[in-house]
Amino acid sequence: MGEPVAYLIDMSPEIPLILPSLLAADWSQVASEVKRAEAVGVQWLHLDVMDGAFVENISFGPQMVQTVRKCTSMLLDVHLMMHRPDHYLERFLAAGADNITIHVEARYDTSVAETLARIRHAGKKCGIALHPNTPFEAALPYVRDIDLLLIMTVVPGFGGQPFLEKETMPKLAEARDYREAHGLSYSLEVDGGIYTNTAPIAKANGANLFVCGTSFYGPADTAQAMAGLCAAVA
Ligand code: DX5
Ligand code: ZN
Repeated sequence: MGEPVAYLIDMSPEIPLILPSLLAADWSQVASEVKRAEAVGVQWLHLDVMDGAFVENISFGPQMVQTVRKCTSMLLDVHLMMHRPDHYLERFLAAGADNITIHVEARYDTSVAETLARIRHAGKKCGIALHPNTPFEAALPYVRDIDLLLIMTVVPGFGGQPFLEKETMPKLAEARDYREAHGLSYSLEVDGGIYTNTAPIAKANGANLFVCGTSFYGPADTAQAMAGLCAAVA
């Protein structure tokens, strides 16, 4: 038995991290796909929850989060692409999420602010996500209360889509500039179409958390994929 690994729970805008998205993994062997990420030094694993209503696809729910939780102590970054995340929140918290990100465009029984407060009250990290068409201003009421701001770089719903550079990079830079001008500390996450050629563009515009689905789980040589992605954001 080796020493238990201490994972980096506190994200910092200065520390770039690669977050593999389980959406692109082979679900017939989830446990070994999780271990594949763990084995190459991943800190945070990204879990994409889709409800078939907020987005045009259905992925998985709290039970999968719980399954993954049992396989690893890597930190779990749960991205809720769903309506009524507030209604289902406790189930994701109980399943073992370490960060929960909610969309400002979703429907709520309560409100975005109340949902964020509940996540924080549970001692977990929280984030806000913006669809490619949603302006940065939509995040402004929450920027003091979040650990991360997720700028979607594809239309949420499917892996393997092309990176929307023109539509999203000015917004990412705006979010970074606002943070610097106001002494805030949220991390900036990008999600969708992140490869070794697009990650440096996102980094140059302020991203420090890079969600990688196809680019991480696609290649058979995971160590090489991870090394390439880490080098691209170093
Ligand atoms: C898109 C998801 C992404 C997706 C990224 O709706 O939120 O996390 O898995 O996949 P790639 O990296 O393949 O674009
Ligand atoms: Zn995601």
